[in-house]
Amino acid sequence: MKDNKLITLGIETSCDETSAAVILEEREVLSNVIASQIKVHQAFGGVVPEIASRHHLNNINPVIDQALKEADITLKDVDLIGVTSGPGLVGALLIGLATAKSMAYVLKKPLIGVHHIQGHISAIYIEHKELEPPFLALVVSGGHTSIVDVTDYNSYTVLGSTRDDAAGEAFDKVARVLGLGYPGGPLIDEAAKKGNPHAVEFKRVFLEKGSLDFSFSGIKTGVLNHLNTEKLKGNQINVNDIAASFQLSVIEVLVGKTIMAAERTKRDKVVIAGGVAANSLLRDMMKDECERKGFSLYFPSPILCTDNAAMIGCAAYYKYKSGLEDNFFLDAYPNMAL
Ligand code: KG4
Ligand code: ZN
Repeated sequence: MKDNKLITLGIETSCDETSAAVILEEREVLSNVIASQIKVHQAFGGVVPEIASRHHLNNINPVIDQALKEADITLKDVDLIGVTSGPGLVGALLIGLATAKSMAYVLKKPLIGVHHIQGHISAIYIEHKELEPPFLALVVSGGHTSIVDVTDYNSYTVLGSTRDDAAGEAFDKVARVLGLGYPGGPLIDEAAKKGNPHAVEFKRVFLEKGSLDFSFSGIKTGVLNHLNTEKLKGNQINVNDIAASFQLSVIEVLVGKTIMAAERTKRDKVVIAGGVAANSLLRDMMKDECERKGFSLYFPSPILCTDNAAMIGCAAYYKYKSGLEDNFFLDAYPNMAL
């Protein structure tokens, strides 16, 4: 407790970021420490699960110590512990869970398992203190692409999801094909700024009429086919043009379906969350479309788009306030449904 306010310790280890955060009451972030493993995995062109687990193990205690220090509290001040319990890499999740469970046991404090997507959505509360559900959320990351109707803090309806690759996964795969490196999203975003988005009209996959699902698995093949054809013709490849054209084809579908979902659910507040929410074209196009429709648009700053424990702490607070507490049987669920 600090000044009679509840203190939550958030822990996130679902993929390649080891993070711990201290949250005061529902939305005030006292610290949000993130140890990124991007450099470790870059050599492999993607996250290697076993290596990720080992790094989480090395990083977790120093990261928690740093989060407590930056928040100027000690373990004794912590009132509850929130931890990502899924979805994610099972070995990576287990490191966060084992740590959180041990701490909850020793400190005799409540333990709250958080769904990673609920965490991404809750990131929006941190910088928009006035924002409350209901709203429509597009959650786009390396592992997820979903349109979610957020009816209350702990109440969600998934209206559509990807049937194959996540949007971030498509960015990462296409970046690899273009030789840009890993993670591909920010690199494509930068390259696209120097390219012509109409150089190649890649197919926009909208699926059946009215569907709010996505499919991004074909786009990498589309880009590969284009590159091969151009090479056979002896034409020069302009990587910036391909990046811009690919990006536009993905973002148009994301924006189109999100707006369709907002109209269908009659929500006038739209939230974008997850790693891909940092994409500059997605932000710009969504802003224009929301303005045209009279919707209010909210997105987190880039550090809260990526995986972080502040969003997990915030989600844990709202679960705790609704009486949703876990016990020590809490486990890691790699494919957990929202
Ligand atoms: O939320 P996140 O940090 O981790 C997951 O939960 O997956 O998202 C990471 C994903 C990666 O695929 C990365 O390439 C993508 O977000 N990303 C971006 C941008 N920044 C990160 N994609 C497009 N444009 C960006 N600026
Ligand atoms: Zn994430």
